[in-house]
Order: sequence, then structure tokens, then C-alpha cells
Amino acid sequence: MKIARFSRIGFILAAAGSAVGLGNIWKFPYIAGEYGGGAFVLVYLITVLFVGFSIMIAEMLIGYLGRKDTVTSFEELAPRNSGMWKYAGFQALAGLFVMIFYSVVIGWIFHYIVTSLTYLPSTVKEAETTFSAMLHTDFLTQLFYHTMAFSWITYVLTRGIKGGIEKMNMVLMPTLMIILLGMFAYSTTLDTFGKAFEFMFSPDWSKINSEAFVVAVGHAFFTLSLGMGAIMTYSASMEKGSNLVTNAFWVLFLDTTIAIVAGLMLFTFLYQYGAGPAKGPGLVFISLPAAFYEMGIIGNVFAVAFFIALAFAGLTSGVSLVEPMVQYFIDRFGWSRLKASISMGLFFYLIGIIAILSNIDGFKEQLTWGSRNFFDWVDYVTSAIMLPFGGLAMSVFVGFVMEKQRVESILKPHLGFAFEAWYFSLRYIIPVAMFVVMLGLLGILE
Ligand code: PHE
Repeated sequence: MKIARFSRIGFILAAAGSAVGLGNIWKFPYIAGEYGGGAFVLVYLITVLFVGFSIMIAEMLIGYLGRKDTVTSFEELAPRNSGMWKYAGFQALAGLFVMIFYSVVIGWIFHYIVTSLTYLPSTVKEAETTFSAMLHTDFLTQLFYHTMAFSWITYVLTRGIKGGIEKMNMVLMPTLMIILLGMFAYSTTLDTFGKAFEFMFSPDWSKINSEAFVVAVGHAFFTLSLGMGAIMTYSASMEKGSNLVTNAFWVLFLDTTIAIVAGLMLFTFLYQYGAGPAKGPGLVFISLPAAFYEMGIIGNVFAVAFFIALAFAGLTSGVSLVEPMVQYFIDRFGWSRLKASISMGLFFYLIGIIAILSNIDGFKEQLTWGSRNFFDWVDYVTSAIMLPFGGLAMSVFVGFVMEKQRVESILKPHLGFAFEAWYFSLRYIIPVAMFVVMLGLLGILE
């Protein structure tokens, strides 16, 4: 059988589709708001550039050379101890776990596309009540839209790399960019654009503490889709002779630009029509709809367009979160793509129902342990433990375990004199950074 490979543009859009997700448009603006804007954004940008870029290249390299699922790629590339190194490939599990709550959030977005057609809350208070009624009492609505997200994602996975993943990204990504750029262009005409710009870019260092720092670094990883095998698995289907460095650059560029554009646009709307940069996960579900209300009927149009863009971002990332485990079952157990896709789909779908229940009154009490309910635990364990661990494993693997010659032969032609700098940071800077982030996110560095 001929192996399906991405076209060059198909790969870039698919990898960017993975990177550009709820993390960019939903999470980035609200954590930037929470940690005071400018200084946080700067730490995030520096991390993306210096840490994210290096690991992105390393992750692409493992996939590109391995050509298989993540577990097999590690196993085959390890010159020794391959029986141990293959376990690093199980970072792919993290993606499947993230999908448990990711699918539920995509479901909320679907619901908001539909309701925004005819209804927007007239005050922030009302918006809060609406959102919290859905979250805490409306199990069926959440289940219905979670089912839609599951069906969409599983269907695309069953169609494979070319006919599913590439095709979807070739349509959804440009559409998403057009919607966001259109709304961004409109926001630049509002008087509060300057204020939003200042909020995002003038650093107030007093607001940055070790916690903000760790969150910024952790987010840089999450938003670039690193450490969960997604980029690695896509890279296994890259064309031979691809330039990994320019590919990584494009993904980084699109991901960062879209986060900044979304942030500027949202903050402009919130300054102009709402209460200013809102904090917390309710930003796009609570403060934003109330701000759109102030705009009248055009607000409905904007709201619907915005939630469509957000849904597209979520769906393209969602597919990449599950594909690594699908590929694993295909390569290691000889499953058909259909069987692997449906099994993985059902896994996140069914456990996702528990995540929904863990927010529902009457169930949440049994599904809460310590300070977190099931939903938040999944988020925490995947991003605080599994993801930095995946990053650490990859940098040690490429930096110390793989033969340098082999790494050099692929990357030197593209990196040139920067190769040594990249190699050095992979060996000595990134492992330390990952370790600190892991400790910090685990709350050990207070
Ligand atoms: N990068 C995606 C986002 O910003 C999430 C993601 C993480 C997707 C890891 C795939 C792998 O939302």
C-alpha cells in the first residue's frame, strides 16, 4: 500500500491547525489578562522563540526520521536501551487525555454558535448566569454538543492523513484566519485599540512573579502542541527532503500571530463595549458575549463568526490530539484505521461524559477530589506533569541519546552555524527549564 504523505502546504496547515487551538483564542487572552498583560506576554514570546522553537525542531526530527507512531519512532531511533526509550513515546497518551475535556469545551462552543444567532446576554451578570446554568445544570445540552464534537473528530480520523486531516485543515484553517483577520481589522478602527495594544505590550514587571513565569512557559508548550506526540506523529507523514526548520518556523509564526491577533481583538472589544480585560476562563463565554450585545445586530454576526472560528481552531487541534494514539494502534497492533479511530474516539467520548458530570450539580460532589473536580484534574495532570515530561524526554533523547552525526546530517544544512547553538540549548538549557516548569506547575516552587 502506498503510504499517504502530507503535501508541503498540507503539512504546515495541519501542524499549524494542531498548534492553533483553544489555547490561543480561549486560554491565552484570559491568562494574559490574569497575569497583567505585557510582561506575561513578553515572557511567553521569549519562551516560544527560544525554548519552543528548539523543541519543535527536535519533535519534528523524531517523527520525520522515525516514520512511525511515537512509540516505534523512539524505539527505532534509540541506538541503545530502546526497550526503555520506547516508553517516551507514550507521551501520545497525554493528547488522548487532553481530549477528554477539550471535546467538552468544543461542545460549549458549538452551543454558543447556535445561541448567538438569536440571543446575546445584555449584561455580564446575565451572561454569567447563562453560562453557569449550562455548566452546572444542563447535562443534556453539553452531552449533545460533546457528541457532535466526538462525531466530527472521529469521522475525520477515519479518513486518514490525506483525505481527512489534510483536507479538513486546508479548508478550516484559511477560513479561521479570514474570520479573525476580518474582526481584527474592524477592531483596529475602534478608539480602544491603542489601549488594548498597550495592555498587551507594555510590560509591568511588578506583575510578574515565579508563578506567572511558570504559567507562561507551560502555556508556550501547550499552545505549540509540544510534548504530546501530535507534531511528532504528523511529522512522520512529512514529505522526504522537507526542510524541518522552515516548517517549524511557519507553525510557530502562525500560532503566535493568531494568539496575538486574537488577544488584541478581544481586548479591544472588551475595552470598548465591556468591562476591560476580563480574567478567568469565562472571558470568551461570559464577558465577550455581553460586549457583543452592546454592538446590536452586528454583534450577533460577530459572535457567530467568532465562535465558528473558535470551533474550527478546536476541531483541528482535537484531531491532532487523538491521531497519535490512532497511529499507535495501527502500527503496533495492526488495527484498521476505522477500528483505531472509533476506539480512541469512544475512549475520550465516554470519559468526557464523566468530565461533564463533574461540573453538574448533584454529581460534582462525588467527582471532586481535593481542590479540583475530575475535569480540572485531567487538565492539570496533562499540562503540569505529562507535557513537560514529554518535552524533557525529547530534548534528552535528541540531545544525548541519538547519534549527533545523524541529527547533524538532517539539520545542519538548514540551521547552518546556528546548529551548535540549537544543540547546546537542547542539551543544557531546555532540560533544566522543563524541570523547573514541572516543579513550578506541581506547586513545589511557591
Ligand atoms: N495547541 C493546542 C491549543 O493551543 C492544544 C494541543 C496541545 C493540541 C497538544 C495538540 C497537542 O489549544
